[in-house]
Amino acid sequence: MAEILLLNGPNLNLLGTREPEIYGRQSLAEIETELKALAKAHGHQLSAVQSNAEHALIDAIQAAKTRHVQRIIINPGALTHTSIALRDALLAVGIGFYEVHLSNIYDREGFRQRSYLAPVAEGIVIGMGPLGYRLALLAALAKLAN
Ligand code: DQA
Repeated sequence: MAEILLLNGPNLNLLGTREPEIYGRQSLAEIETELKALAKAHGHQLSAVQSNAEHALIDAIQAAKTRHVQRIIINPGALTHTSIALRDALLAVGIGFYEVHLSNIYDREGFRQRSYLAPVAEGIVIGMGPLGYRLALLAALAKLAN
C-alpha cells in the first residue's frame, strides 16, 4: 500500500463557488472524497491538504518525505506562476508529482502561461476541470503499479 498526497494551493478551498464558469461546480471536499475512494479501490491511501499559505504547502511537502509518500498530486493555484520555493521543495524531497490545473492556463492571461513546476513534474493535466484530478491519480496509480 502506498500513500499519495493531494495538495491544493490558494483559493482552491473555494471550488464550487469560485468563478464556476472557469473552475466548475464541484467542491474541493467532493473532489477529495472521490480521490480517496479511487485510491482505496486500488489498495492505496490518499491524504489531502489545502492551504492558502505557501509555507504550509512547503511544510506538507517536506513532511511527505518522512511519511514515505510515494506520489504527490498538486494544484498549486496561483503559486504555479510565482513559486520557485514550491519547485525547490518538490525537488528536495524527490517525490514524483503530477501538476493539475482545472482551467486551460494556456488559453488565459499571459501571466498564467508559465509554470515553475511543470518542467520537473512527472506529468501535467490541464484544462480538464475536476476530472483532471482523477486523471492525475490514475497516472500515479499506473506508475506505482510498475
Ligand atoms: C489554477 C490556475 C491558476 O492560474 C489559478 O491561479 C488558480 C487555479 C487552475 O486550477 O486552473 O488558482 O491552478
